[in-house]
Amino acid sequence: MPDVPAETTQEQGAWMSNWTSNPLGMPAVVVGGGTMGADVAVVLARGGCHVTVVEPRTERHERLVAHGLAELAAAGVTSASHLACVASLEDVDWADVGLVVECITERLADKQALFARLDKLAPPGAVLTSNSSGIPISRISQGLPGRARMLGLHFFMPAHLVPLVEVVMGEASDPAAARAVFDLMRACGSVPVMVRKDLPGFLANRLQHALAREAFALIDQGVASADDVDAAVRFGFGFRFLAAGPVLQRDHAGLDVHCAAAATIYPSLNNSAEPAQVLQAAVAAGRVGMKAGAGFHDWPEATRATERARYDSLLRAGLALLSPELPRAAGVGASPAPVEIFSSDTATPGPAPAPQP
Ligand SMILES: NC(=O)c1ccc[n+]([C@@H]2O[C@H](COP(=O)([O-])OP(=O)(O)OC[C@H]3O[C@@H](n4cnc5c(N)ncnc54)[C@H](O)[C@@H]3O)[C@@H](O)[C@H]2O)c1
Repeated sequence: MPDVPAETTQEQGAWMSNWTSNPLGMPAVVVGGGTMGADVAVVLARGGCHVTVVEPRTERHERLVAHGLAELAAAGVTSASHLACVASLEDVDWADVGLVVECITERLADKQALFARLDKLAPPGAVLTSNSSGIPISRISQGLPGRARMLGLHFFMPAHLVPLVEVVMGEASDPAAARAVFDLMRACGSVPVMVRKDLPGFLANRLQHALAREAFALIDQGVASADDVDAAVRFGFGFRFLAAGPVLQRDHAGLDVHCAAAATIYPSLNNSAEPAQVLQAAVAAGRVGMKAGAGFHDWPEATRATERARYDSLLRAGLALLSPELPRAAGVGASPAPVEIFSSDTATPGPAPAPQP
């Protein structure tokens, strides 16, 4: 079973006594209907939530709903009544809202102002979450009376195709709220993980950036080209991630082998606190990726849609391959308890790893 807080004190959990983790018919609000909000709305609607997206740019509304319905149809959900757009928080029917997911621009002051308003507008039983990629919920919720019901809920782009969602607890978050949202996300077909401390980057982005730091440093040093770095990950160890994460994969490979390699390699790994030169130079030159027409590669308009279609179609194929495993990954089915290798009081190693073939 995943590592989730199972207990809460009566006082902590009391305000959530009417909360249900069953998404069917639950009114949910997504604030910000940009890149992420549009897809987060699909995740909630496919679980059965009645989703209202708050997006001030009304010219986006039609496209947003069309995108949502097309993705819901692709996921086999045909009811059209689950997704609507409004222009402001005042247009939302807040009466029975159970969950809010904030997906607005990544600016602390804007998010703080929004959460202060949400704390007043949303009914007391609603859980308020932020999809911020980097700002800890503890900072967004600082000083607000309803901090206990505020959590990080971090999706990955595109949110309706990448199964993972991080449920991130801030310093004041109620474990009962985290548990409830964890169960709700599971019921929406996502794979939630519980992150018990809102460190910068939470869980997955810390891992991603640890890899990216070394990748860009290797390019800086001329050890490998950008394309070769991509190939080494995609067709090498990254390819295996479809079958096993870095911990389980090491059980396959042998922890002794891993330990020995780590001792040799770690001293020379990059540990700079600054982004690599090659990245800083690209950003300074405005080569910030597809949205600017160029990054490490050139992206004239004509090639962007083709690349995006290739990317999405591989993600969909990967998702189809993984789909039999998703319920178990999300903790719905039985899963074996992890083997305890070290006893917590003595840190004495358990049995030696099996000999390598
Ligand atoms: N893009 C990603 O890959 C990604 C991944 C994970 C998390 N995130 C996080 O998700 C959030 C949104 O990112 P995005 O890429 O969707 O940005 P985006 O710019 O595409 O969308 C933001 C949307 O929010 C709307 N908005 C801004 N202020 C608002 C307000 N006060 N009320 C209502 N709507 C408002 C804007 O009109 C815009 O449509 C950010 O916090 C970002 O860090 C992004």
